[in-house]
Amino acid sequence: MDFEVTTGDLAKLKTECLILGVFAEAKLSGPAARVDRASGGRLSDILKRGDLGEDIGRTLMLYDLPGIRAERVLLVGCGPAKELSRASQRKAVAAAIAVADLGHPSEVLCTLPDLVPAGSDTYRATRDTLLAAAEQTYRFERTKSAPKPPKRPLSRLRLWVADKAAAKAAKRATAHGEAIAKGVALARDLGNLPGNLCTPSYLAGQAETLGQRFPKLQVEILEQETMERLGMGALLSVARGSRQPPKLILMTYRGGQSDDKPVVLVGKGLTFDAGGISIKPAEKMDEMKFDMCGGASVFGTLLASLELGLPLNLIGVVPASENLPDGAANKPGDVVTSLSGQTIEVLNTDAEGRLILCDALTYSERFDPAVVIDIATLTGACVVALGNHPSGLLSNDEGLASEVLEAGDHSGDRAWRLPLWDDYQNQLDSNFADMANVGGREAGAITAACFLARYTRKMRWAHLDIAGTAWRSGKEKGATGRPVPLLTQFLLKRAGLVD
Ligand code: BES
Ligand code: MN
Ligand code: ZN
Repeated sequence: MDFEVTTGDLAKLKTECLILGVFAEAKLSGPAARVDRASGGRLSDILKRGDLGEDIGRTLMLYDLPGIRAERVLLVGCGPAKELSRASQRKAVAAAIAVADLGHPSEVLCTLPDLVPAGSDTYRATRDTLLAAAEQTYRFERTKSAPKPPKRPLSRLRLWVADKAAAKAAKRATAHGEAIAKGVALARDLGNLPGNLCTPSYLAGQAETLGQRFPKLQVEILEQETMERLGMGALLSVARGSRQPPKLILMTYRGGQSDDKPVVLVGKGLTFDAGGISIKPAEKMDEMKFDMCGGASVFGTLLASLELGLPLNLIGVVPASENLPDGAANKPGDVVTSLSGQTIEVLNTDAEGRLILCDALTYSERFDPAVVIDIATLTGACVVALGNHPSGLLSNDEGLASEVLEAGDHSGDRAWRLPLWDDYQNQLDSNFADMANVGGREAGAITAACFLARYTRKMRWAHLDIAGTAWRSGKEKGATGRPVPLLTQFLLKRAGLVD
């Protein structure tokens, strides 16, 4: 989809479909009021009949409205004017775009960026609108035998704001939003691809492809032999249970000064997690193809950064492996030696994410990072604690934690912090190794982070547990592309491109 910012008189603008927001009790938004005047009050007359209702996201398509040049007008309910929020704005946009996408228009002119909710601004309202529309029109059809493209796919979204000053902010928001949308779509595509196709080697190939597309991205793949030579015993122990060779994917983007310390993003790239010998129950096990969504978000964030040409240095590290039961697989009680030299008793082979991440995190020390953030579908316990709305955030650095939380709030891709107190560390005590890989039933999301904290002591580090946010289950099953918006916002802010 193409995006473009438009201003000007709504009565005079030509468009296939003009989207107007209407508040509860038939209260017209500013843009709707302008169209109402131009049409001699027809809009208010129609609304008086009550067909639109009061619910956020209800729509009504109108044809041949007099006095304006739009071929169609699509009214969308935005709820009570005083309660307009970023969430209700996104919901209204998604509903309107869904209707437009089903119908005939190939282009729409959407005035919702002009309705700025409390606590938002034109920049955010425009970016929110663009991203909600992109999310709504995303399709994943690579694994269908006969993908059916719509006859006239919605291919152009025009984002309308009232004045020139707003247009400046809206244009910046559109450039940023478009890059984020591309990153989100890449993360969703990789996440949705099944485990038989999206293997560690496939991910490595995707990194190479990205490197060929963008000369500024340097890609290196560490193979099993190299990992053996380095001593990545934890990562390799997970991969031993699989016929697919593991890959450690390294992607370096140099957009900053040569001496700028890089931001390092480490993403869990477990392309299928059956649990290993501590095998998972069959129900919903298919969803463990999404266990590489942390890695996918690193790909997506790099793509967004490349599209934006961010003036900073960024390194993506994606340890990629499968976790399957096999004669050579980890067994409960096995002790492995990590790259850091610390030994780990593998009490549960299903706690494999931390095993591949700890070696990737230790490896990241060599980049002398400004900060390192790991992103992982790490624990079911995080979903129990926080549900599907925020990602879990744990960090050993107050400043970094605030930056990440703020990026989440700003982008609407939120995170919520959990404590990383030393009080929890003794849950990882082992009689046979330096630590166990599991900490019991209590506070599972925290003890998983406590494990990683033992590998990040020398760095400013934050951990995002995205087990609840990376994909949706049920009828809407599919990857969300989160937390690409949060991470890209974090980088935009660090690069000084947003306030
Ligand atoms: N990938 C899973 C975490 C997960 C499970 C995410 C379900 C989303 C939904 C991870 O590898 C795992 O299996 N974690 C275990 C850890 C436990 C054995 C300490 C879990 O959460 O059950
Ligand atoms: Mn697991
Ligand atoms: Zn896992």
